Amino acid sequence: SGVKILVNMTLCQVTVFLFALLPLSLNGQDPFAWLYGLQGQRYYSDSLQTNTNGGECPDECDCPPTFPIAMYCDGRGLTVMPTVPSHVKYLYLQNNGITAVPDSALNNATSLVWLMMHNNQLTSEAIGKKVRFGALEGLERFYLQHNNLTSIPPNLPRSLRDLRINHNRIEKVMFGMDNLTILYLHDNAVTDMSSSLQSLKSLTLLDISSNKLTKVPKELPEQLHQLYLDSNSIDSLPEDFLGHLTQLQYIRMAHNQLTDKGIPPNTFNVTGLVELDLSFNKLERIPLVSTTLQHLYLQANQIKEFTLGSFCSVVDVTSFSKLQTLRMDGNEISREDIPSEASLCLRQASSIEV
Ligand SMILES: *[C@@H]1O[C@H](CO)[C@@H](O)[C@H](O)[C@H]1NC(C)=O
Ligand SMILES: *[C@@H]1O[C@H](CO)[C@@H](O)[C@H](O)[C@H]1NC(C)=O
Ligand SMILES: *[C@@H]1O[C@H](CO)[C@@H](O)[C@H](O)[C@H]1NC(C)=O
Ligand SMILES: *[C@@H]1O[C@H](CO)[C@@H](O)[C@H](O)[C@H]1NC(C)=O
Repeated sequence: SGVKILVNMTLCQVTVFLFALLPLSLNGQDPFAWLYGLQGQRYYSDSLQTNTNGGECPDECDCPPTFPIAMYCDGRGLTVMPTVPSHVKYLYLQNNGITAVPDSALNNATSLVWLMMHNNQLTSEAIGKKVRFGALEGLERFYLQHNNLTSIPPNLPRSLRDLRINHNRIEKVMFGMDNLTILYLHDNAVTDMSSSLQSLKSLTLLDISSNKLTKVPKELPEQLHQLYLDSNSIDSLPEDFLGHLTQLQYIRMAHNQLTDKGIPPNTFNVTGLVELDLSFNKLERIPLVSTTLQHLYLQANQIKEFTLGSFCSVVDVTSFSKLQTLRMDGNEISREDIPSEASLCLRQASSIEV
């Protein structure tokens, strides 16, 4: 019985440990990241393959009896898509060497809710023209990042909420998914979004950083909260570009080619904006920002003057800037260039770097 107690204690500690980890990982980027980790645990080692539900499971995958709607086939060196039984909702195919999606590969997979295919060797040519993505009417998450795609697969289901297709070689895009809230398109070769975003009425996070854009995409969806356009070649912004984006809180445009001339006056004098990153551009002046802005990043530009009027037009007891972070290092000013009245206007700034 001494052994038994020891075992019980260990189990207990493992449980405590797991619970301690959960909230931590929930703070991370992806609240479901802990779930992908479950695949690391093998649920049974024989090459079974009828689970308690009566559904089959291909030999190369695991379908845990405790969670039979999931099928784990990730990280097993697969080069070919396994057969997907129709009851599977969560399909993990990431971190393999899968090169193709044959026409009929998903014919039976009509229950899918998550389809994880990131980190494979997919090319657009090798995705069958007859693959029926559109028939996956419950699909919500589709992860395709880190493949070799040159276009977005056609006929994606309108049910999608989270599409990640960053780190591919995509040049042209077109979407029609009313429920999409997250779109990761970063690290591709997109030169022009034209009006492709128009129909994405629910989109709240759009990441198109590290592409080849020269202009801000037209018709940005009105629900956007986060817009990431860093590391493109954008040199100017359209007139009243933020006018209809009343939900927007975070704009990141670091590492572009923005000049003073390219930014229409009052562009950033909009309430609601929390964070604005214009670092590593070619600005010579501090753009006018709203007094409600909290974090402003302007490092590594060519700013020569500390214009307090960019933050406050009047300074008194009730009108002052809410700015907390201001980074101005890597410009052409020094601490002496900050006027003394700055302490009134920027009274909430906990860090100003010059
Ligand atoms: C789809 O299901 C049918 C009936 O169970 C089966 O005969 C067929 O082989 C399956 N196709 C694929 C591609 O899995
Ligand atoms: C992806 O494309 C690049 C460039 O054409 C090529 O060098 C690389 O081998 C390809 N990788 C895969 C996974 O096909
Ligand atoms: C979009 O989401 C709504 C609300 O959850 C749902 O009723 C609707 O069916 C979804 N649209 C599609 C095309 O799945
Ligand atoms: C900035 O916007 C506020 C609120 O809309 C407005 O009162 C203020 O005059 C604007 N500042 C400038 C310099 O136009």
